[in-house]
Amino acid sequence: MPALSIQNVRKKFGNKVTALDDVSLDVDSGEFFVLLGPSGSGKTTLIRCVAGLETVDSGKIIIGDRVVTDFPPGERNVAMVFQNYALYPFLSVYDNLSFPLRARGRLSKLLKAQSSVGTAQSTSKLSSMLGYGPVNRQTLKKDIDDRVHTVAKMLQINDLLDRKPGEISGGQRQRVALGRALIRDASVYLMDEPLSNLDAKLRSSTRVELKNLQKTLGITIVYVTHDQIEAMTMGDRIGVINKGKLIQMGEPHDVYNLPEDLFVASFLGDPPINIIEAKVSQDDASSIEFGGYKLTIPGKPSFTSFRGSKLKMGVRPEDVLISDVGASAVVRLVRSIGRTNYVSMALTETQESVTKVTTEEVNLKDGQTVKVLPNISALDIFESETQKLVWSSKKKSHSARN
Ligand SMILES: Nc1ncnc2c1ncn2[C@@H]1O[C@H](COP(=O)(O)OP(=O)(O)OP(=O)(O)O)[C@@H](O)[C@H]1O
Ligand SMILES: [Mg+2]
Repeated sequence: MPALSIQNVRKKFGNKVTALDDVSLDVDSGEFFVLLGPSGSGKTTLIRCVAGLETVDSGKIIIGDRVVTDFPPGERNVAMVFQNYALYPFLSVYDNLSFPLRARGRLSKLLKAQSSVGTAQSTSKLSSMLGYGPVNRQTLKKDIDDRVHTVAKMLQINDLLDRKPGEISGGQRQRVALGRALIRDASVYLMDEPLSNLDAKLRSSTRVELKNLQKTLGITIVYVTHDQIEAMTMGDRIGVINKGKLIQMGEPHDVYNLPEDLFVASFLGDPPINIIEAKVSQDDASSIEFGGYKLTIPGKPSFTSFRGSKLKMGVRPEDVLISDVGASAVVRLVRSIGRTNYVSMALTETQESVTKVTTEEVNLKDGQTVKVLPNISALDIFESETQKLVWSSKKKSHSARN
């Protein structure tokens, strides 16, 4: 049974904006699922629907074995980190962190009063429905204190526990908001771009900490980001969303290597994949022409049905080869960051940009003319009109249409 199942969810705002268009996805228990998409693609709307902060127009949301589509937020047992991370301004960092747990303490009193009327069984059921585990009054204070310090240490905010949100930086506030969700016992943790305000170094270390914590605790996380590096490095699986539609789901490596369409191909990868105009050769149905060069594909797949169609070749920068043969290109800029070299070129015939990335030494000068080829074992071909992948040399079973 998945920890979270989203089934055919649709959501419109007014008549014009379709924020979610028939979204379905399952997240396994203990999975780190990343929802990746550009601004306005529907990421926040989707997790707000899961949390119960938005109603869905149609479709179902199931958490564990409960259909929660019509449940109020408090009965869904989810913890959420909001994109704009509102904290309680008059409470210290310590009290902000412990708030959800102290709420649990207050609840236990309430439940105790109720249980004297109802049965013990109904009490524990309600308690677990609300997402609060059984409470031991003796250990409650110490338990809260331990948890606050563990979470604060992990997020490197343990020196700030006495301060108010107004007295800490934006990045620190964001970590308090993250801690406030992690401190709870929830069935699913929903995180909306929780590291966006951290500087690059802290973001990178917090990613590692969060991923480790998630693995150690075995918690289920749905993590929203528009940052493909974050998605690639943190996700057990990624779901790519665009214009309210979930376009592709899979393990990061698979989505990167076998993008199903040009949007996914271009969204993952930095520098982005090279997209180059191409067409099937008039005189050879297994050759593709680009930049004035005829590339014969080994294995002789037949591209007959694409003759006359506009095609696009997708070539990752690490799969661009400079060779004795290939399309003529002029080197525009060579730059190095650490051991990685970036060569920006323009195809002579079409002026299309091509970027090559390599850790090998590069002896090229700006303005020099070279010949470029794709690594033939890492070539994707898309149809311009549908934007869909129609052939890939990485997909053995995926042969061209006849
Ligand atoms: N309350 C609302 N009323 C009207 N339209 C809304 C509302 N909330 C979101 N939208 C619209 O729904 C679409 C999806 O918005 P959403 O906030 O889910 O995007 P997002 O992927 O989270 O973007 P970002 O990365 O910028 O946070 C957008 O077109 C947005 O303008
Ligand atoms: Mg958002």
